Amino acid sequence: MVNTEKFIESAIKEIRGKAEGKKVVMALSGGVDSSVCAELAKRAIGENLVSIYVDTGLMRKGETERIKSLFSDINLDVVDAGDEFIDALRGVSDPEVKRKIIGEKFIRIFEREAKKTGAAYLLQGTIYPDVIESEGGIKSHHNVGGLPYDIAFEGLIEPLIDLYKDEVRDVAGALELPLEIQHRMPFPGPGLAVRCVGEITEEKIEIVREANAIAEEELVEKFKPWQCLAAVIGLGTGVKGDVRLHGWIVSVRAVYSRDAMTADPVEVPWETLHRMATRITSEIPGVSRVVYDITPKPPATIEYE
Ligand code: XMP
Repeated sequence: MVNTEKFIESAIKEIRGKAEGKKVVMALSGGVDSSVCAELAKRAIGENLVSIYVDTGLMRKGETERIKSLFSDINLDVVDAGDEFIDALRGVSDPEVKRKIIGEKFIRIFEREAKKTGAAYLLQGTIYPDVIESEGGIKSHHNVGGLPYDIAFEGLIEPLIDLYKDEVRDVAGALELPLEIQHRMPFPGPGLAVRCVGEITEEKIEIVREANAIAEEELVEKFKPWQCLAAVIGLGTGVKGDVRLHGWIVSVRAVYSRDAMTADPVEVPWETLHRMATRITSEIPGVSRVVYDITPKPPATIEYE
């Protein structure tokens, strides 16, 4: 286990030493790794840190506003890129193509904004498991072994590179970051896009955003799942009032897991399921059916795409 006080002291020294009084830029997502990086850099170099938060339009309900208020004391550039993402994704239904478009778009937008800052250094929240997985060929992390950006930074600062995730959470605690950041449920980089099966439309994104908010309200506090989510998985016939409705099917998923490699569904009591289904179909127009996913991982993945 890391000695958090010592770590914080030496990370601040490292960032200050490497930055040499120049500007440093980073992508802030609000996840625990990037939040810890931002807090350390704020303490080390203050105004010389420029954080960029890209609102992809694929974020959860209220997330962008929350990030703005949580990080109101740092130099935060919020980029409203929702239209750019939805335009780039129009008509695309293949999950891997969707992922690639989102990743590429994110990189280009970050690059565009980072260039404006004139920053010499890039700060990244790479942690030790990212390095191991990349070296072992399990999955390539874009922040390991070469940068995807077409910007010649003078250098890269990675203060968390020797830490495991639980150690990063300990450091977040020692930095007194809000509990919601310390214990934040994982949220995928491509955001709600991987919870809209098939083509993405404004309507589907809005439905999935509302459904995720209801699922989190009903399940997070009571069951403390490792992750919970709602996805739009297709269309089905229903009836609302006296009218037949060819409406959306929402699937809710809540799992316990240690490391996301395997996962078990949370046994949610009937009463909660019933209330959740009633809320989702009555509060969200266009939804005709709600299902609860009881499949473990494997064979199902946690996300839908
Ligand atoms: P799966 O769906 O593969 O997900 O069981 C395992 C964990 O990883 C998250 N996830 C992602 N995170 N980019 C990310 O940053 C992605 O493309 C992505 N896909 C899945 C997922 O939320 C779960 O915690």
